[in-house]
Amino acid sequence: MALIRTEKLCKSFDTTPVLKDIDLSVEQGEVVCLIGPSGAGKSTFLRSLNQLEKITSGKIFIDEELFLHREANVTVSRAEQSEYKRLLLEMGMVFQSFNLFPHKTAIENVALAPIYVKKTPRAEARDKARELLAKVGLAEKENEFPSHLSGGQQQRVAIARALAMNPKIMLFDEPTSALDPELVGEVLTVMRGLAENGMTMLVVTHEMTFAREAASRVIFMCDGTVAEQAEPSKIFTAPDNPRTKQFLSGVL
Ligand SMILES: Nc1ncnc2c1ncn2[C@@H]1O[C@H](COP(=O)(O)OP(=O)(O)OP(=O)(O)O)[C@@H](O)[C@H]1O
Ligand SMILES: [Mg+2]
Repeated sequence: MALIRTEKLCKSFDTTPVLKDIDLSVEQGEVVCLIGPSGAGKSTFLRSLNQLEKITSGKIFIDEELFLHREANVTVSRAEQSEYKRLLLEMGMVFQSFNLFPHKTAIENVALAPIYVKKTPRAEARDKARELLAKVGLAEKENEFPSHLSGGQQQRVAIARALAMNPKIMLFDEPTSALDPELVGEVLTVMRGLAENGMTMLVVTHEMTFAREAASRVIFMCDGTVAEQAEPSKIFTAPDNPRTKQFLSGVL
């Protein structure tokens, strides 16, 4: 079953098209890595999925339900309000910059959305947050403020925070690219663990080793289009598209 599927998704900024007819789906249990040159539209695609950007046209299905359909910058149809909110919350997102609340401790950062958005009782939300912090290896850090945590630790708190909303799919936008090289591994380890436990993930990454080892499918995007998609064993050894080949020869 496709947890996320887009049909002819287009996005323009003013008159400049940056996403052109993107048909892309992520099936339950898949780890899909999205790679491609700077400016390809990878971030814009993720942001369009979770409504941080308004799409110009196309359809987005979540859980096989029509979430949004727009044409010429006008909404043609949309899931009914409560359903729209529910489907939106099925996507958890982790950004390059961790965006933690600086004046909240690690555990408060993780428990906040469940308490305020999902109305989870405070004690229950904190128990769950504690469990998630342990899962990302930060059991000892629950009362630390973000400024007292390393970048890698902050990013792991951000992952726990996204998981706290029980998403069906996790979207990652270059989660390790703001980190010092020695901190990248700990975040990738957490992501590998999630993948091994069956979390569905769509990951924009420049970490080709991660893509090669953890992805079930790799999508190469360039110029706002899906140029090629294949299993990592195929795309990293014998890509069909010369642009994929050219990109990979530059980054590998
Ligand atoms: N808010 C915006 N207003 C205008 N243009 C934008 C905006 N956001 C992105 N763009 C443009 O859209 C194109 C795609 O940008 P996007 O950030 O999605 O690329 P990317 O593939 O994520 O690149 P990178 O690997 O550098 O993160 C770029 O040409 C960018 O300049
Ligand atoms: Mg980007």
